[in-house]
Amino acid sequence: MATTTLTPHQRAVRSTVALKVLMALTGLIMVVFLLAHMYGNLKVFLGADAFDHYAHWLKGEILYPLVPEGWFIWIFRFVMLAAIAGHVYAAAVLSARNVSSRSSKYAHGHNHQQTYAARTMQWGGVILLIGLIFHLLQFTAQLVTTGFASGSEPYHMVIATFSQWWLVLAYAVWVFVVCLHVRHGVWSALTTLGANTSPSARAFLNGLAWVIAVVLFVGFMIMPVAVLFGWVQ
Ligand code: HEM
Repeated sequence: MATTTLTPHQRAVRSTVALKVLMALTGLIMVVFLLAHMYGNLKVFLGADAFDHYAHWLKGEILYPLVPEGWFIWIFRFVMLAAIAGHVYAAAVLSARNVSSRSSKYAHGHNHQQTYAARTMQWGGVILLIGLIFHLLQFTAQLVTTGFASGSEPYHMVIATFSQWWLVLAYAVWVFVVCLHVRHGVWSALTTLGANTSPSARAFLNGLAWVIAVVLFVGFMIMPVAVLFGWVQ
C-alpha cells in the first residue's frame, strides 16, 4: 500500500479541521444539555413536589435499571467535563494559531469581521465559564448560598434565590451571554460539519441558531422572572 507523507502545512490544516470538528461536536452536546436543563427547570411551574421529585430522579433512578441507581448523574458529569475540556482546549489552540497566522506577512488585515466574532466568542466563553462556576457552587455544591440554607431542597433554593431582583438580573446577564455564544456557536458548528452548502442552507442555519438562542433565553429566564413577581411561590 502506498503511503503519503504530509507536509507540515498539510498536517497543520488537518489538525485545524480536527480541532474545529471537536469544538463543533462538544458544543452541540452542550447545547442539547442546555435545552434539556431549560425544559427541566420549567417543572417549577408544577409545584414544589414535582420539581423536587424531578431533581431527585435526576440524581437517582434515571436510566435505572439500564445503569445502577445514582450512576447517571456521574456519567453525565463526566461527559460534560470531557466536553468542556475538549471545547476549551480546541478553542485555545485554534485561537493561538489564528493569532500567529495573523501576525505573518500573508495575513495583512484581512477579514476583520471574523476576528471580531472570534474575540467575542473567546470573551463570551470566559464569562460563561465564570458564571458556570458560580452557578455550580451555588446550586450544586451549595457552598455559595443566596438566601437558603445549605442542604435545602431545590425548589426552596430556587425560590429563595430568585426572590432577589439583583440575582434575577445577574442571571439574565449571564444567560444572555450564554445565548449569544450559543447563537454563533450553533451556526459555526453546523458550518464546520458541512451543513452550510448554499444560500438557502445558510439562511436556514442562521434562523435555526437564532431560534435555539431565543428559546433558551426565554425558557431559562421565565422561571426566575415568575418567582420574582410572585407567580410561583
Ligand atoms: C436561569 C437559568 C438557570 C437556572 C434557574 C438553573 C437552575 C439550576 C438548578 C436548580 C440546578 C441544581 C439542580 C439540583 O442539583 O438539584 C442546576 C444545576 C446545573 N446547571 Fe443550571 N440553571 C440555569 C442555567 C444554567 C446554564 C445557562 C447552564 C450552563 C451554561 C447551567 C448548567 C448547570 C449544570 C452543569 C448543573 C449541574 C448538574 C449537576 O451536575 O448536578 N445552568 N441549575
